[in-house]
Amino acid sequence: ETPTADDAPALRHEITRVGVVGTGTMAGGIVEVFAKAGYDVVYVGRSQDKLDAVVTQITRNQDRAIEKGRSDAATKDAILGRLTGATEREALGDVDLVVEAIAEDLDVKTELYRDLDRITKPGAILATTTSSLPITQLGAATKRPEAVIGMHFFNPAPVMKLVEVVTTDQTSPEVDETVRALCASVGKVAVSCGDRSGFIVNALLFPYLNDAVLLAEAGEHQLVEIDAAIKAQVGLPMGPFELLDVVGTDVSLAIQKELHAEFGEPGLKPAATLESLVAQGRLGRKTGAGFHEYA
Ligand code: CAA
Repeated sequence: ETPTADDAPALRHEITRVGVVGTGTMAGGIVEVFAKAGYDVVYVGRSQDKLDAVVTQITRNQDRAIEKGRSDAATKDAILGRLTGATEREALGDVDLVVEAIAEDLDVKTELYRDLDRITKPGAILATTTSSLPITQLGAATKRPEAVIGMHFFNPAPVMKLVEVVTTDQTSPEVDETVRALCASVGKVAVSCGDRSGFIVNALLFPYLNDAVLLAEAGEHQLVEIDAAIKAQVGLPMGPFELLDVVGTDVSLAIQKELHAEFGEPGLKPAATLESLVAQGRLGRKTGAGFHEYA
């Protein structure tokens, strides 16, 4: 029998409207990525202030791009015109794909996935930006585990090229293909990963970042010296403490705890300084101070 449009796989559809849940650093950057690439974006936050902050950030980035001759007023207006902010999740009823970028907490995310499953239209893809939580468990909170997938962006999302596309045993090949094509359409490089804590990049990056904190705790080296050494010798754009501050000490601690819980190696136990900075509210650049101070 020849398949007709009606019985074609419901999940391999064109993506025109994208939903984003969250208004933090990652969520805001992801809203920007999709709007810049021409997608209509519905983004959901907990307050009007948080929604406004996303627009302010995108406006600022566009203004800087205009100053540098990389954008113009019409492009900026078009990008901002594609944004619809909402404080109610119900606004996600007609999006083709949702990217979730909320707190790195399994209970909070699980509750959201149950809700997204109810609210979004059949066939809509539910993508998570989790760095280290089990995506299989998020899928299990829905009646559409085949449409649940990881899209792990890196910070700052508008600049970093990589997206780790994480499939579970349940994710359908159509959803995987659609999401990898979507990444390409927004200028990102998709790398396929399995659902294992830390995926590829964080599984390798965070043991190093934690070791850097332990090295500093040992007391013989200054933070700025360790940062400088890594930048000059290893060729990374940032030293470990600069990077921890960009990622956020809170996000870094959550990732480190997940890696430690999953693999149990003593070296993965979060360094004490990371715990104490988070307890002091020194969450990195976003709060004006972390390992370093920012004006
Ligand atoms: N949003 C949008 N654009 C930004 C930006 C932001 N937050 N930060 C920088 N940019 C843009 C700038 O506008 C500039 O654009 P143009 O080239 O068009 O002018 C470009 O990026 C370069 O920025 P700068 O010249 O200001 O600064 P830089 O050259 O020092 O680059 C950086 C800044 C891109 C952040 C660079 O330092 C870098 O690559 N750092 C490493 C970041 C990294 O490794 N991130 C991954 C962390 S791990 C993670 O995220 C995983 C996880 O799960 C937590």
